[in-house]
Amino acid sequence: MSILVTGGTGFIGWNITKKLVEKGEEVVLFDIAPPRRGQNIEELAPKVKFRRGDLAYWPEVLDVVKRNSIKEIFHTGAMLSEACEENPLAAYMVNINGTFNLLEASVLFGVEKMTFISSVASYSLGEAEVISSRSPQRPHSMYGVSKVCGELLGEYFNRRFGLDFRCVRLPSIIGPGRGGGGLSSYTTLMIQEPALGKPYEVYVTEDTRCPILYYKDAVNCLLKLHEAPGDRVKTRSYCIAGYNPTAGEIAGMVREKIPDAKITFRPDPEKTRIVKSWAQKIDEFEASDEWGWRREYTLEESIEDFIEEVRKNPERYI
Ligand SMILES: NC(=O)c1ccc[n+]([C@@H]2O[C@H](COP(=O)([O-])OP(=O)(O)OC[C@H]3O[C@@H](n4cnc5c(N)ncnc54)[C@H](O)[C@@H]3O)[C@@H](O)[C@H]2O)c1
Repeated sequence: MSILVTGGTGFIGWNITKKLVEKGEEVVLFDIAPPRRGQNIEELAPKVKFRRGDLAYWPEVLDVVKRNSIKEIFHTGAMLSEACEENPLAAYMVNINGTFNLLEASVLFGVEKMTFISSVASYSLGEAEVISSRSPQRPHSMYGVSKVCGELLGEYFNRRFGLDFRCVRLPSIIGPGRGGGGLSSYTTLMIQEPALGKPYEVYVTEDTRCPILYYKDAVNCLLKLHEAPGDRVKTRSYCIAGYNPTAGEIAGMVREKIPDAKITFRPDPEKTRIVKSWAQKIDEFEASDEWGWRREYTLEESIEDFIEEVRKNPERYI
């Protein structure tokens, strides 16, 4: 029996896969994109297999679930925010229809559990000062709409067919190799680029805040929810908070570790406006109360560890 990781060659999917292999699991990666630089699947064989395929294409989703005796799924494959806005039809096909395909295949072939990644971007802009797992979601973006649909479909399949669906709404995840996708990518790149000795120009104002979480905490969070006993998972879809620094504060912390870091600010008013409109205060009470979620890394430790990781293998991130 194997665990399927959709989006398995993506930033979060690949990092979950490495943890699952450490735990002795057999993992099947499903992704429309081939492995990235530094993702050496042969090294992890035969524990890890890669199957190239499209979530939006039912026969490929059905086939990967049917042929690999899948018992559990981490569903991380998705189009990210900017791509969804550029092509809403593709976002519908991949994020909404693709999630439906996976849920349907799960029920047909006896998958027991699915953990899905949603986003705090699934809340409406600026409506509530503090958002929690129980706050209403009325997203304005196609990405947010697709995430809410995924959550609702998963919860429906849980009620109707007993599939053990679980979900976290993550803030922006920072870490080596996240890349430039999504408007929050500056929170990663203003650490990664100076760690590589490169300059970075930040496209929001210094006082712009964005909720962020280190990728090692995000992966631990997903595993902790996935492994939590069934009777502890009551809410099913959980908000996860992270830290909420300004871009100026991140720059200051990076300069403490890399005194010659070349970080400059050239704010784009529209990008700044959008980032500032995101939920700033996130209440993660249900996640900590029901299954004991706690961050391990402080913000300072996250930045320090991030810089060390990049410096260990810079060729992976250039
Ligand atoms: N990174 C963040 O800050 C963040 C924050 C909140 C939620 N999330 C969610 O976490 C998940 C993983 O994000 P990530 O940061 O690893 O992004 P990523 O882009 O690195 O990974 C997503 C993967 O999905 C794959 N994919 C896209 N379309 C596909 C399709 N049609 N069929 C199969 N695979 C497809 C991509 O090729 C990619 O490898 C996504 O669902 C994302 O919405 C990410």
